[in-house]
Amino acid sequence: MTEPRLWNDVDDYLTALLAPPDDAFSAALRDSDAAGLPHINVAPTHGKLLHLLAVIQGARRILEIGTLGGYSTIWLGRALPADGRLISLEYDSKHAEVARRNLARAGLDKITEVRVGAALDSLAKLADEQAENPAPFDLVFIDADKVNNPHYVEWAVRLTRPGSLIVLDNVVRGGAVTDATSDDPSIRGTRGALELFASHPKLDATAIQTVGVKGYDGFALARVLP
Ligand code: SAH
Ligand code: DHB
Ligand code: MG
Repeated sequence: MTEPRLWNDVDDYLTALLAPPDDAFSAALRDSDAAGLPHINVAPTHGKLLHLLAVIQGARRILEIGTLGGYSTIWLGRALPADGRLISLEYDSKHAEVARRNLARAGLDKITEVRVGAALDSLAKLADEQAENPAPFDLVFIDADKVNNPHYVEWAVRLTRPGSLIVLDNVVRGGAVTDATSDDPSIRGTRGALELFASHPKLDATAIQTVGVKGYDGFALARVLP
């Protein structure tokens, strides 16, 4: 690693200019911290990118896999119109409770819903609901347990439409992603998801490395093809 301090200074500079916290974000992070949640929310500039992607997309329905305290959920939820819908999937009921309070304080409780349970179960249920009443998601943000990333990508393709976006977080992990022999289940899961991004006939994708307050990591972005 070269210059983490410089990266942080630049991140602080860019964040203050382009993604400054308002009361809802500050309170969400403060209460998440007070409840003992880990500091693994996206960086502010990354949250702003998710927000802009959703706005550019004209997203009306968003799916998030991995809520934590709802920090990224607020960024995404604020991109939706008043009749939009964001469903966020979270395994840990304590995280979900913190997130619901944070979303309510941000004024997003009417359009956001946090569903508690293993995401693979919730995704199967969402597919059942869509079989009854088709309502594909315009954007999916995958940011939960990395071991299941390939499954999450498969579900995301099923639950979206041509033109939808899929964002996959934490694809670099300090460079560990290049280790083809890794037996770390998270690395294997993320490599599997990236290989799907590359090979899936319905996906066109890229990935970007990032540095800053969250260290050296990255995200991948895919567009669902017809
Ligand atoms: N998107 C959030 C960060 C999510 S951290 C943000 O940027 O603000 C990852 C979250 O995924 C944690 O809250 C963790 O409890 C949750 N998680 C882990 N395994 C899961 C699973 N199998 N199903 C659903 N959520 C899971
Ligand atoms: C971890 C998870 C994340 O989603 C993230 O952005 C950073 C770290 C983790 O599990 O360590
Ligand atoms: Mg993440």
